[in-house]
Amino acid sequence: MSAYLSGLRVRLYRCGVHVINIKPGYVKTRMVAHKKLPPYISASVETVAYDIVNSYYKPKAVVYTMWLWRYIMLATKMLPDFIFKRLNMF
Ligand SMILES: NC(=O)c1ccc[n+]([C@@H]2O[C@H](COP(=O)([O-])OP(=O)(O)OC[C@H]3O[C@@H](n4cnc5c(N)ncnc54)[C@H](OP(=O)(O)O)[C@@H]3O)[C@@H](O)[C@H]2O)c1
Repeated sequence: MSAYLSGLRVRLYRCGVHVINIKPGYVKTRMVAHKKLPPYISASVETVAYDIVNSYYKPKAVVYTMWLWRYIMLATKMLPDFIFKRLNMF
């Protein structure tokens, strides 16, 4: 999805369309209300909505709602598959 949005951003730039990729991480919605989410990486619906509206006024390519996710995803991307498979995360 990120690669698709990146291509779309470049393609639509000259038309004046700005494509923003919002990455909210865990969001405390009705669907996950029964789950215990890690507090430091879980955003409220209101925070995510605020970030989405705010990104319209201050356009960026990618918006992480919870800043920690940027580093979590960076570490995830850097992990080789053979280590990732042994982490037993799912
Ligand atoms: N929350 C997270 O942390 C998280 C993380 C990763 C991925 N996701 C994914 O994000 C997506 C949205 O989840 P959410 O967290 O935003 O949950 P949510 O706030 O509870 O929203 C779920 C939405 O799906 C609709 N829905 C549920 N069952 C449906 C059905 N059978 N037919 C039609 N509509 C139905 C609900 O409609 P009604 O309001 O009418 O019931 C509601 O609008 C899900 O695919 C979820 O797997 C969420």
